[in-house]
Amino acid sequence: MTIQWPAEAIWEAVSPLWPSFSVEILPEVDSTNTELMRRARAGQLDPILLVAERQTAGRGRLGRDWKSDTAGEGGTLTFSLGVPLAPADWSGLSLAVGLAVVNALHPALRLKWPNDVWLDGRKLAGILIETAGVGDTRYAVIGVGINLSPREATDLRTPPAALQELLPGVQAPDVLGQVAPVLVRMVQRFAAQGFAPLREDFLARDLLNGQAVVCSDGVNGTARGVDASGALLVHTDQGLIKINSAEVSVRPAPAAPL
Ligand code: BTN
Repeated sequence: MTIQWPAEAIWEAVSPLWPSFSVEILPEVDSTNTELMRRARAGQLDPILLVAERQTAGRGRLGRDWKSDTAGEGGTLTFSLGVPLAPADWSGLSLAVGLAVVNALHPALRLKWPNDVWLDGRKLAGILIETAGVGDTRYAVIGVGINLSPREATDLRTPPAALQELLPGVQAPDVLGQVAPVLVRMVQRFAAQGFAPLREDFLARDLLNGQAVVCSDGVNGTARGVDASGALLVHTDQGLIKINSAEVSVRPAPAAPL
């Protein structure tokens, strides 16, 4: 099936902001993040939106695999935005990206620190940010995977949520057209102003705030939002702890038995 992607409309919205911006659609690739990181290492550093109709080796945070369905009738939308960036401070970029995704999609969506998108207690979308290069300007690869139609739970503990639960019949091209320009504007805003001005908006979407949480580094406590750099604040028996490592995963604590 041929998918009609809104590549030209996205290019028209974004190219005034990034003059050398391009949009590329691939029927299949191992991973849009892997592909843009390969290109960056080969010296291709122009801003680009790379969309894959199918990924054969999608990657998630913390070295995990990211399994996705082919885009078509529903399926999964998978894309990466590659951009040269020079923010004064990189901290909070992943939260800003998550915020752009939920802002573009639906008021019912929540963010689970640092940037998982959740709906009704299940994960709906994931974000993987990687950077290449050194110095003030680095090349950031911002990968986004959004489940559109309901999927079987396989190796995941909870079956993922799907955007069609909120927006019946929504398809990958519509979602890409909605998300991509909002994401680009957010990344540019972040590069200019950092995370601090976005903190209140993040808190309004924060799934963990006030919840008992368990962190993979052994910290247990109650989530208390994020600070101006995007670090997660956890109230523990030892006091308030800040978690800012991308290597730490956080989950709501299981409910205590009655
Ligand atoms: C996570 O939740 O752990 C992050 C998942 C990120 C998936 C997206 S799909 C597009 C891009 N390419 C990848 O290989 N990963 C990201």
